[in-house]
Parts: sequence; C-alpha cells; structure tokens
Amino acid sequence: MQDKLIIFDTTLRDGEQSPGASMTKDEKIRIAKALEKMRVDIIEAGFPIASQGDFEAVKAVAEVIKDSTVCGLARALDKDIDRAAEALKPANSMRIHTFLATSPIHMREKLRMEPDQVLQAAIHAVKRARNYTDNVEFSPEDAGRSEFDFLCRVIEAVIDAGATTINIPDTVGYNLPQFFGELIGKLIKNIPNSDKAIFSVHCHNDLGLAVGNSLSAVLNGARQVECTINGLGERAGNAALEEVVMTVRTRRDVFTCDTELDTTQIVNCSRLVSTITGFPVQPNKAIVGANAFAHESGIHQDGVLKSRETYEIMRAQDVGWNTNRMVLGKHSGRNAFRTRLEELGITFEKEEDLNAAFSRFKELADKKHEVFDDDLQALVSDTIQDSSDERIKLVSLKVGIETGETPKAEITLSIDGEEQHANAEGGGPVDAAFKAIESMVNSGCNLQLFSVNNITAGIDSQGEVTVRIDKDGRIVNGLGADTDIVTASAKAYINALNKAMDHSERAHPQRL
Ligand code: KIV
Ligand code: ZN
Repeated sequence: MQDKLIIFDTTLRDGEQSPGASMTKDEKIRIAKALEKMRVDIIEAGFPIASQGDFEAVKAVAEVIKDSTVCGLARALDKDIDRAAEALKPANSMRIHTFLATSPIHMREKLRMEPDQVLQAAIHAVKRARNYTDNVEFSPEDAGRSEFDFLCRVIEAVIDAGATTINIPDTVGYNLPQFFGELIGKLIKNIPNSDKAIFSVHCHNDLGLAVGNSLSAVLNGARQVECTINGLGERAGNAALEEVVMTVRTRRDVFTCDTELDTTQIVNCSRLVSTITGFPVQPNKAIVGANAFAHESGIHQDGVLKSRETYEIMRAQDVGWNTNRMVLGKHSGRNAFRTRLEELGITFEKEEDLNAAFSRFKELADKKHEVFDDDLQALVSDTIQDSSDERIKLVSLKVGIETGETPKAEITLSIDGEEQHANAEGGGPVDAAFKAIESMVNSGCNLQLFSVNNITAGIDSQGEVTVRIDKDGRIVNGLGADTDIVTASAKAYINALNKAMDHSERAHPQRL
C-alpha cells in the first residue's frame, strides 16, 4: 500500500497575503467548499488574530466545512493561539498552526530574541495550543536558512511538547531542490522523536522552485505539502497545488505516496480562485492554463490523434477540463439551475440570493443562449457582490460612441443607499465610465491594471474585467462580468472601490 501524502491548502491564508487578493467571508466560504469537494485534507482558513473580519471568516469556514480539517494560523503568542482556538471551535476537525522564526537573521533582526528564548517560546506555544486540540502544527519560520543543529533542537523539543506536524518552511524561496530534499531527510534521520510527527513543507516561489523543492522533500520523507491553488501567495507565491498533486499522480513510478484528491475538481477550483481574487491564470500555466492541453504544431496534433500518449502525459479530463459543458438555456427551470450550482459546489444560504441569481441567469440566457459553468461562477460572484452590504452599487449605465465623436458615459450609482447621477467624456467608453464614477466617489485611487478576458469561447461570451487599483498604498483587485464589456468594466471598478473603502485593518502574520 502507498503512503498518503497530505494536502494542506493555504490559499485562504498565504494565498490571501498576495497584494490585492484579500477575500470576504462569503468568498472564503465558497473557496473552502470547493476545496472540500476536491477532498483537500486540511484547509488553512486564515489568521484569526489579524482582524475581526478574518476571525469571522475562519469561524464561518469552521462552521460549514465537515470533511476537511480546518486550520487557523497563530504566532507563538498566547493571544494568537487563544483567538485561533476560539475561531475554530465550531469545526468538526480543527488544527492550530503556530510558528516562530528560527533563522539567525530573523531571530536577531525581527524577533530580537536569543535562540534559547525562541526555543522556550516555541515549546510554550505548542503546549498552549495542545490545551485546545491534539492536532497542533509547528513551523520554524525561515527554516530554510536556519542552522541545522538549532533547528533539530527546536523540532525535537516541540514534538516532545505535543506538536503532531512539523512544517519546514522555505519562507523566502531561497532553497534548491537537491539540498532542500536532503535537509528534510537529515532532519527525519537525526531527530530522535521524528517518528512521532508528520513532516511537512511550505515552499515559496521566489526563484521559481517552490514545486521542485516540495517534491524533492516528498522524495525524502515529507508527507504533507502546503500549497495553494494557482500558486497564489506572498510575493511570487507558494507551491501550486495542482502541480504538486499531478506530478505525484503522474509519476507513480518515482513517488511511493499519493494524495486522496479528486483531481477532476482542479480546473473548477482554479477558475473559482482566479475569479474571486482577480488574479488571472497565465495561458501557459501547467495543468490549469488555457493552453496546458492545446496542441498547436501539426506534428503534435497528428501524433495526439494517432495516440494521445505521444504528446500527452495526463488526460485533460482527469484535471477537470472538458467538463465546462453547456449547462442550461433560457428554458431551464429554477430546480435545474440550483442542481447545477450544487454540482459546482455552490449553495446559497438565503433563498432570496438564489432567486436573485436565478433572475440574473434568465437575463443572461436571453442574451447568450448557451450558459456554461464558467458563466455560472461569474454570475454567482456578481450576485453575491450585489446582495452584500457594499457601499457603492451600479444602478444604470449608458454609453455613447460614434466614429469621430468623443465617447460619453452616463451613470447612476447608489452610494450608501442614495442614488447619484453623473456624465463624463473620455478617451474611450471605459475611460468615460470610470471618470463618471470617480466624479461621484472621488476616491483618488490610481488604476494599476485593466484587463479583459472572455469567460467562455465564442463572440457572445461574457467579458470578465479585472482592475487593480492602488488607494493610499493599499492594492486591491476588482472583478466584473457582463456580456457588455463597458458594463463589466464599471462593475469591476466599483468592486475594487468597495474593497478599498473597507477600512478594517488586518495584521500580517510575518511582519509583526
Ligand atoms: O512562509 C512561511 O514561513 C509561512 C509560515 C507562517 C508557515 O507562511
Ligand atoms: Zn508562507
């Protein structure tokens, strides 16, 4: 029998640390449900001490997730651990993940602590967490640059104190696959009580080696990998879940372990995370990029037609491609609509939200006849945004364009419940629409990115617009979808403004 490789997904925590990727409670719940459907073992839902919002989000995830373990992050401080335990209380199965840096540079410059103080604080934190659960993970932050003997001392002591998972983070993405794998092997061999804990890895992608380092660690005895959907995460991101999982599955000749994931959910999860965070997936991204299974060259196409294995090492349908079928049309009823959403892992808590989504679906089906799964995901995001207590809402938009004339936009917004109206001219209809919105909101933000993608194939596809704005140094992404791309653009801009105006401060786990 093969060993089990535990998949610990941190999209909702480390992934959320990507500038602009912050998620609301409802968005986290949607992603958590999709991860549970994919049979991810552990979902790190957030850092509960970071803000009231993050606390509520972790608690809400703990309430709805039944099959995966829900984890919360905590620094090695009593107040963090107590807060994490409180948020995780409703979970069927919970884990507290506590961490403290062990590298000389972090101890000296960031913590201003002596190694012995770090050792004692780590032991204390694990014991404190054990008061709440017997599922405790400890991470020696920046382990990839820590001194080996000190690392061994800390790990041995925290296992004695009750840590059941030891996670070795390459926090700054500095390590190389061969040496990182050897490090894991040596830790397991040299630490006398290493058999009492699962060894895990958490690799960052600063040199593009996060997946390589993680897999090398697995070959040397790690049995948990921390990863994120689409490789989202702090700076250059974390190891991409889909790449780790599919490598282990595809190279069974090399790996002696496997995951229990339902890989057919991968593309759906990737799409959902991209839609919610506004981080597009590059077309040549492994596994989930639009071109990952596309063969352009005639020689390749010929080979694949004769025998798929000539150029393909995985089947597209095994990771969830080709399941994006035409689901519903304008004659489909409410029940069919609800059932398809449930199959996609989407459920509404309130019946009125389902009704609102259904009437949007009817409008969309009238315009575009064939409604695909990706359309439904975008439609649900839109409905949730609209029914939430966002301060700015789009009421109506009218644009005028004519060859040789200056484009104009006329917009009505509801701002804090009051309708306001404005006209503006611009270099193009989108520019005019944004100027009209700004004339009412006066946000003073800078537009950093504007991109339009089609959600599905075909000229009648909905356009999905991503905008990234910088408001007083805070980066936020906004997303909007519509069959009309000017409307999609206005929705995306308003979505970003709403996020930027949410002033709730959140702490960053590694910068305190
Ligand atoms: O990168 C890192 O070191 C982390 C820890 C909190 C595990 O994210
Ligand atoms: Zn990290």
